[in-house]
Amino acid sequence: MLHGRGAIARLGDEVATECRRPLLVTDPGIVASGLHRRAIDSLERRGLAVAVFDRVTHMATVRSVSEGVAAGRAHGFDCVVGLGGGSALAVARGVAIVGAEERPVRELVGGWGAEAPSLRMLPLFSVPTTAGSGSEVSPSAPLLDDELGAKLTLSGRGTFSRVAILDPDLLASLPSRQAALSGVDALTHAIEACCTNLATPITDALALAAMGILMRDLAAAVRGDADARARCLVASTMANQACGNAKLGLVHGLARNVQTLFVIPYGVTIGVFLVPVMEFNRPAALPAFARMADAMGLSRPGEPESSRAAAVVPAVKRLLTEIGIPRRLGSDEVDRSRIDELARMVFARNTPAQLDRAALASVDVGGFAPSPNIRRARYADVVALYERSLVGWSVEGAPPPQTPA
Ligand SMILES: [Fe+2]
Repeated sequence: MLHGRGAIARLGDEVATECRRPLLVTDPGIVASGLHRRAIDSLERRGLAVAVFDRVTHMATVRSVSEGVAAGRAHGFDCVVGLGGGSALAVARGVAIVGAEERPVRELVGGWGAEAPSLRMLPLFSVPTTAGSGSEVSPSAPLLDDELGAKLTLSGRGTFSRVAILDPDLLASLPSRQAALSGVDALTHAIEACCTNLATPITDALALAAMGILMRDLAAAVRGDADARARCLVASTMANQACGNAKLGLVHGLARNVQTLFVIPYGVTIGVFLVPVMEFNRPAALPAFARMADAMGLSRPGEPESSRAAAVVPAVKRLLTEIGIPRRLGSDEVDRSRIDELARMVFARNTPAQLDRAALASVDVGGFAPSPNIRRARYADVVALYERSLVGWSVEGAPPPQTPA
């Protein structure tokens, strides 16, 4: 990781150590803002021939990966530079993997951990322009396959970036709404990493430090404070390092299926499920919640565990309200009659039914949902959480949930 103001200027040096013909993968917003010029200038200063693929959409898709690989082949690319938010970085990783494997994404989706496939990949260099996904330090590329109606995750042993460049100057022109929606993803990575049954003292150290920064600085970062944005950028990277190892819980497990079936911004789906899932988890996770309260600066010395644990959800609600995260999904956006389907998709995760809509009806929903979430959830719990996402949550003294922006 290279970090600091102006660190993007070092991109060319890093790429030039092993490559000559980079493909820059980014989105139209970055090109419109002119930010991509800083990457291109650095690459060209080292005499590298760069081609730009800027057709990344708001959700990373298999289609964008295919188009990116075609653009890369036309250029004769030997590496990929991802520049942008979580979608651009995920598509860049997908392009680097498919570009080397020369097989379709569907054939490359595999297991996790010890079962993860050993995927080949072109050298990947990742440069985030949001404090959010932390994709620059993740091995995964979550991609929507809209023909299949499924989210496929490309992830292998060693599908990490060669180099991640964290340059806070690249966040200067980020609109407030995007800063809020990506920031809530980073906060959720930190909170979920503390609330799985795979959390360790190492992942806790990263997650707790990250959530401390985000709880303190995210509102100022959303308002445009450059120093706060710089701190949140580092926190978003730390949060992903935590959840890359401790994995994620039901917030992402539930939101993923909403992203698959409906067109709603990623950060909105994450923000809407954060509070309900935390409330579901708390009774089963008092020590974790007490540690989170300490990290967020919410507890007094000697205060008992249960009252420390009780302070976390109200503080998260206040922050989400302050930065304008919607408190529910609109009934015009998500059809209540599809809750059973959404819940079945939770149980189909990492089974063949994940890729086969017809098999969804017969998926076994009898036991616990396959998730490392600290409190195990049954089908009825999952349905209740989806219903809760349509009702929303309230803050003491605040007006009822607003319609999502
Ligand atoms: Fe996320």
